[in-house]
Amino acid sequence: MKFEDIHTVAMIGSGTMGAGMSWCFAQAGYNVQLYDVSPQQLERACARIQAIQKLFVQEGLVAAQDAQAARERIVTTTKLDESLAGVQYVLEAAPEKLDLKQNLFRQMESLCPPDTILATNTSGLRITDIASVCHHPERVGGMHWANPAEIVPLVEVIRGERTSDHTVAVIYQVTEKLGKMPVVVNKDIPGFVSNRLQYAVLREALHLVETGVVSAQDVDRTLKCGVGFRYPWLGPLETADLGGLDVFHGICQYLFKELSHMTTSPEFFDQIVQEGKLGIKTGQGFYDYRGVSREEVLRKRDLYFIRQLKLIREVKAS
Ligand SMILES: NC(=O)c1ccc[n+]([C@@H]2O[C@H](COP(=O)([O-])OP(=O)(O)OC[C@H]3O[C@@H](n4cnc5c(N)ncnc54)[C@H](O)[C@@H]3O)[C@@H](O)[C@H]2O)c1
Repeated sequence: MKFEDIHTVAMIGSGTMGAGMSWCFAQAGYNVQLYDVSPQQLERACARIQAIQKLFVQEGLVAAQDAQAARERIVTTTKLDESLAGVQYVLEAAPEKLDLKQNLFRQMESLCPPDTILATNTSGLRITDIASVCHHPERVGGMHWANPAEIVPLVEVIRGERTSDHTVAVIYQVTEKLGKMPVVVNKDIPGFVSNRLQYAVLREALHLVETGVVSAQDVDRTLKCGVGFRYPWLGPLETADLGGLDVFHGICQYLFKELSHMTTSPEFFDQIVQEGKLGIKTGQGFYDYRGVSREEVLRKRDLYFIRQLKLIREVKAS
């Protein structure tokens, strides 16, 4: 399948990720056939897409007329064969269970012509394992987005062991057309790149809190106001270049051995989860959200992210 020949895509799963990703495809001009097993979930996805449309217009990210046209390009169905009819590209965003995804890919392959690109938004399952049930694993690749999908620019394009160069190139081109920032992950390893970085930081943060070095609030503040303050503009390797590689190399010699090597989650974290403190969705986590509106917190988060996105686009364009 050539990139230029792609005009209609199927989105498989309309949950947290499926709704936002559908919006991005539609905004870039693609027709989207959004499928879910649950009609209620499709209704919720439509409401969410409408909310994204409103927010994007309000924030000046898209003209009202274009936003309306984008939304009209999204159709929904509870029938898998209907969603796959006439599509050139499929993005799967169903629950993170290997057998469920394999079952979907088996059906997708039998219902689509052999050159249709089949991508998965899996967070961490191996692309190779998902594609192992396919007769044409070369057209299966990873397209890993970050939440909220409609705002965060990064998309990891993952090469499974049998993914062809052509499939990687097409997923990359589609990602660029969506206005996102693709990164090619050349090896099908757990966590790909973004989750490995995210969880390396989380492991050290948990370790520092568990050992009483710092409070949860202050570990977050340290990242937001110090190390993380630079991250939208300078990655860790650029930071090292600017700071002097001799200095950073020297620090590695004594500090790496001090860093956490935990291979499972620490006990205090297990305990919090066992107590049902799951973060904002249950009112308590590392912080107390009782009496706080979840919608309001997420809205505020999205507004901060949009401000950041605008700034990144502005700098990129200058
Ligand atoms: N939520 C995140 O932050 C995030 C980030 C990146 C990647 N992902 C990955 O994206 C995928 C989807 O995650 P999510 O957070 O949107 O999940 P979700 O639970 O919000 O949505 C999954 C949707 O799939 C539907 N579904 C269930 N069985 C199905 C089937 N057989 N066929 C089609 N749809 C089916 C559900 O009804 C639901 O609407 C997962 O693989 C997840 O690991 C999630």
